[in-house]
Amino acid sequence: MCEIVDKAGSIPAKAVNELVFVPSADLVAKTVRRIADGRQVFAVTDGNVARLHADILPEENVFVLPAGEDSKTFAQAEKICRAMLQAGLTRKSVVVAFGGGVVGDLAGFAASIYMRGIEFVNVPTTLLSQVDSAIGGKTGVNLDGYKNMLGSFKMPSHIVICPELLSTLPSREWRCGMGELLKTAVLDEELYLFVQKNIRALVSRDAIVTAKAVTAAANFKKQVTDEDPTEKGRRMILNLGHTVGHALEKCDNHRLSHGEYVLLGLAVELRMAGTSPECEESLRKLLKTVELPALPVVDARDVCTAAKSDKKNSDGKITLLGAMGAGKIFVCKCGAAEFTQKYIATVDSLVREGGLCYVG
Ligand SMILES: NC(=O)c1ccc[n+]([C@@H]2O[C@H](COP(=O)([O-])OP(=O)(O)OC[C@H]3O[C@@H](n4cnc5c(N)ncnc54)[C@H](O)[C@@H]3O)[C@@H](O)[C@H]2O)c1
Repeated sequence: MCEIVDKAGSIPAKAVNELVFVPSADLVAKTVRRIADGRQVFAVTDGNVARLHADILPEENVFVLPAGEDSKTFAQAEKICRAMLQAGLTRKSVVVAFGGGVVGDLAGFAASIYMRGIEFVNVPTTLLSQVDSAIGGKTGVNLDGYKNMLGSFKMPSHIVICPELLSTLPSREWRCGMGELLKTAVLDEELYLFVQKNIRALVSRDAIVTAKAVTAAANFKKQVTDEDPTEKGRRMILNLGHTVGHALEKCDNHRLSHGEYVLLGLAVELRMAGTSPECEESLRKLLKTVELPALPVVDARDVCTAAKSDKKNSDGKITLLGAMGAGKIFVCKCGAAEFTQKYIATVDSLVREGGLCYVG
């Protein structure tokens, strides 16, 4: 029996990067079973999600990671692959990530290398992963403190988004998700206007407003990543705030969470790139409502060294992104000396204006 070719003689279309919005948590497990359609499922999650949302997980073949960024290592990916082999996974099996960006990035990476790639489904459980990391197929692990240095593009077949799962999220993780949500809003004028109007409801975790924002942000990211899955062009805009954000993350040894560095990256990088004062002022109000974390005290030259390793750079120049308004993104390239100078001047001015403060 040949299962590849359908009755019409063509290869059946497989879902790629398909968003599935699920209104209540009790439907998540059922939705995943429907997607798997009888195939073997291997679940990857972390300790917190396993404890708080055991009911969404399958009964067997569940790999539980220690929660947090420190799990994003090649060694953990290897452990997952070994467990997949022991569980007898074949090329027809499905790997399902239940968790935030760390779980999704790791499980997606393991799914992309196991037997040269098997189907991957993502069930994001943090605000950050529902609006951003679960969509678009970037997977990866960190190397020597550098973010996502090893990884692959592996589109999930489905992304199952249930905003109700966010009810258990600690407030700090909520703020992290707001970082990526604000970033996406700067890229999309319609979302920006919605976020601007509803910023207080979003910060106070209003369920209806959150579900609307999550849906809009996820759809925006899907549209950009469908158009440019391997970041040859437009997808680059999704890195807004991330050149500085990732560099701070490296220099500060991941002391804060990724989303917190994104918030800082938005404040600093947009000004360094030469964002219009009106756009900056408007974003500054939103960042103030979300509350920016304190800026770690790091040497500007170290920030520059870390930024030089950013994957977006070309021609020996560091890439920064700025905005002339919501949805009007531009690229600014600068050399190392210029970057360092801009970083010092920007941080000084933001601290003077009260838009940023230092740790301690
Ligand atoms: N692949 C991409 O395109 C992409 C994009 C942005 C960020 N990322 C990556 O995502 C990671 C950050 O993601 P994150 O912020 O989701 O981190 P995370 O996965 O570490 O989750 C944050 C914390 O929330 C907990 N948690 C998860 N779901 C929960 C729930 N429903 N209730 C209570 N607690 C819950 C986790 O256990 C963890 O302690 C970083 O590694 C970053 O590099 C990837």
